[in-house]
Amino acid sequence: MYLIRKAKPDDLPEISKLNLELFKIQHEFDPTANLEWTFSPDGQEYFKTRISTEDSFTEVVEDESGKLIGYIFGTIFKRQPWRIEGKYAELESIYIKPEYQGEKLGSQLTNNFINWCRENKVNYVSVIPSAQNESAIKFYRKLGFSDYDLVMHLDLGK
Ligand SMILES: CC(C)(COP(=O)(O)OP(=O)(O)OC[C@H]1O[C@@H](n2cnc3c(N)ncnc32)[C@H](O)[C@@H]1OP(=O)(O)O)[C@@H](O)C(=O)NCCC(=O)NCCS
Repeated sequence: MYLIRKAKPDDLPEISKLNLELFKIQHEFDPTANLEWTFSPDGQEYFKTRISTEDSFTEVVEDESGKLIGYIFGTIFKRQPWRIEGKYAELESIYIKPEYQGEKLGSQLTNNFINWCRENKVNYVSVIPSAQNESAIKFYRKLGFSDYDLVMHLDLGK
């Protein structure tokens, strides 16, 4: 019924549209989410790199008609030098279109990413949801993530 597969360079326009949908949701929690970023040269370069480099993981979900209805992006990255040695990865972005949520697609994508991390000898995986995104936080907890850093924020205006 649904097909989960690796992302290809040709998926860039559809992934970008999905990412902008996610940003619009994110923007409700976090007005600093930049709605211009996705289709900016910087944003497009980011997606291209994630799709094409070996230290990144990108999968998409297709519906019966071949239309993309969700995606996940994750990457291996260098952690702060004061953290203990180990390989770190971050689940950077995940989105399932609202009408397809609750069908375990998000869980499958996340578990595929975690398995990829295991295969790549990653020791620690993190994800940084908005503190206000309670449903995403619940979702990650169900998949085994637990609370870690707490990022605090002070808005000093313009
Ligand atoms: C978060 C998200 C990726 C989850 O994907 P999904 O396919 O809907 O989730 P699943 O069907 O795999 O759900 C897994 C579990 O999480 C719970 N869950 C998922 N979405 C939830 C929600 N909105 N509220 C409460 N619980 C939720 C489900 O109840 C389910 O629990 P169960 O195993 O007891 O049934 C998806 O809802 C989404 O794209 N949300 C909007 C974007 C977003 O917030 N992304 C994360 C940014 S950090």
